[in-house]
Amino acid sequence: MVDFSQIKELYKKSLYSSEDKTPAYISTVNALLIFTCVYLLYRTVFPSLSTNKEHIKAKEFAASKAEPVVHTVYTPKTLAPFNGTDHPRVLMGVKRKVYDVSAGRSFYGPGGPYSNFAGRDASRGLAKGSFDEDMLTDINLPIDTLEGLTKEEINALNDWESHFAGKYLLCGELVEND
Ligand code: HEM
Repeated sequence: MVDFSQIKELYKKSLYSSEDKTPAYISTVNALLIFTCVYLLYRTVFPSLSTNKEHIKAKEFAASKAEPVVHTVYTPKTLAPFNGTDHPRVLMGVKRKVYDVSAGRSFYGPGGPYSNFAGRDASRGLAKGSFDEDMLTDINLPIDTLEGLTKEEINALNDWESHFAGKYLLCGELVEND
């Protein structure tokens, strides 16, 4: 006849470490599961926390620059040098507001995918989802009135504006050249 109690004992011995009552592999799996659950719970309860942290970091970065960020009036011509090459600060115009996007140098700095926008009014490009050169208005000409944009493009531009307002420091206004 099969002795089940002996089989049970052998099975237990194979699972449990010598002193501990908890099987070694179970405690490792449990720790991993608990860690994963806590992390997922944290992300679910605070979905915006990581993004906010990033945004706070960007604002702190701009605020911590040796040169204080002063709310200034820029024209297309005076904004142009803030392109990350001629000046370490990177500024960008959106709907006649100027944001300090220095913390996003990897996006807007030299060689970045959106470097066209640095030191320029990026409104039309953002609205149309294009970083083509012809989205930009010559800095010697009046500021783009954004005429001809569709409702969807204006909505897209407004969404970008909220993104920048949440992430970067608003540091000035964009007004016409003298
Ligand atoms: C090939 C298509 C594209 C890809 C794969 C792409 C990819 C990305 C990625 C990965 C980010 C970073 C998101 C983050 O970490 O927050 C980003 C941000 C951004 N993208 Fe694009 N993008 C594309 C097209 C465009 C176009 C056409 C525009 C033109 C307006 C654009 C403008 C931006 C801007 C302004 C940001 C925000 C950077 C910031 O937060 O300062 N992207 N893109």
